Amino acid sequence: MPETAQPASTGVSPETEITAALGTRSIVLVGMMGAGKSTIGRRLAARLRLPFLDADAEIEAAAGMSIPDIFETRGEPDFRDGEARVIARLLDGGPAVLATGGGALMREETRNRIRDKAVSIWLKADADIIMRRVKRRADRPLLQTVDPEATVARLIAEREPVYRHADLTIWSRDVPHEKIVEECVGALHALLCGGVATPTATEVPGELGAS
Ligand code: S3P
Repeated sequence: MPETAQPASTGVSPETEITAALGTRSIVLVGMMGAGKSTIGRRLAARLRLPFLDADAEIEAAAGMSIPDIFETRGEPDFRDGEARVIARLLDGGPAVLATGGGALMREETRNRIRDKAVSIWLKADADIIMRRVKRRADRPLLQTVDPEATVARLIAEREPVYRHADLTIWSRDVPHEKIVEECVGALHALLCGGVATPTATEVPGELGAS
């Protein structure tokens, strides 16, 4: 059998290299409701052997009530204050994979903390996919409007200019979850360790700024 040259292998997996490069920084998933932040985040955390944290669940635990109840009894500004505090606390306990609520990044202090203490991934989804996914559940207070499609379109228009500054962008679409996770791992490895990312899955790193 002819001998073929094999690339030198360090024997270290991309996952191990990523967690070594992260140090105490976390991976933060940002993007619209229904983009799959929790679903992908949980799988990505398992793959990297990091704890998975869901900011919404942590806010509910801290408040002792559900997000719809927080919006109803205390109002959105109070929810946003709690959200910023909870995310700050979770980022101090890194490394972990953290899924954030869709509006979290709209706070400048949260954006700055994520830039300093994490690598951010925007899970980008188009309006059709978002609508299809959020329709399955009625637990998003912001979408209890007469025209949820118009609300989603408005939120996308307001938020995408902010999301696009995430360190990495991965298209969330209707493919098996493991494919999206694979693309996240490839993009993280390329950004943090100089590996090769799947070209179709990633865009130019943004300015929230991982180093
Ligand atoms: C919100 C998104 C929700 C939750 C709250 C507000 C938003 O989280 O934090 O209902 O402002 O987009 P998900 O993005 O996990 O649905």
